[in-house]
Amino acid sequence: MTDKFLDKVYETTGADATRKLYDAWSKSYDAEIAENGYRTPARLARAMAQCSRDPSLPLLDYGCGTGLSGGELRAAGFSTLDGADPSKGMLSQAHKTGHFRKLIQLDLSQPLPIQTGDYHAITAIGVISTGAGPASLMDTLMDLLPSGGLFGFSLNDHALEDADYLAGVGRLQDAGHLARVKEYGEHLPGMGLKSMIYVFEKK
Ligand SMILES: C[S@@+](CC[C@H](N)C(=O)[O-])C[C@H]1O[C@@H](n2cnc3c(N)ncnc32)[C@H](O)[C@@H]1O
Repeated sequence: MTDKFLDKVYETTGADATRKLYDAWSKSYDAEIAENGYRTPARLARAMAQCSRDPSLPLLDYGCGTGLSGGELRAAGFSTLDGADPSKGMLSQAHKTGHFRKLIQLDLSQPLPIQTGDYHAITAIGVISTGAGPASLMDTLMDLLPSGGLFGFSLNDHALEDADYLAGVGRLQDAGHLARVKEYGEHLPGMGLKSMIYVFEKK
């Protein structure tokens, strides 16, 4: 029987434990996620496309996982797609999809190997949450964009109950970045979970 991970992921803390969990999950992730319906990537990809003036400009899918969110971004029209993730197992699945120009393996103990302005748009889909990325990622990823760049991310119901994540959204608003999309909808309907998707345009 294949191990199940969705019930473990929201209780996992720490970068090493999270990376090990995703390495172990990488081969069965797409199937387990599909069993529960996974709506956030398609919702966010569509919202990004509605806000984008030029979907041929480079987009970084941060926390790209197996490439499932990359597939939705491609379907929405983004044609120059790079992915980054700390899990080697997830990246090896992403590689097989052929969606990405480049895949970057992240060492989370080091500064990100990305320069400001490398990407016109960044997404973090199902990444900024308990059991994955910290709220500070919102500031870090926004800092990498040029003025006018788009940052799209999701917060699931678990993250929406956590004051740290809501404070992160508040910091983006207080800094004067424009909230182009804020929409609550289905995340993993099989688990009764919803998510808020956001698209911010950098000031
Ligand atoms: C729930 S999966 C989402 C993957 C993909 N975006 C999708 O929608 O299917 C979360 C991904 O975030 C990655 N991740 C966890 N913590 C991270 C961090 N601090 N920075 C970047 N990626 C992280 C994990 O390795 C995993 O691939």
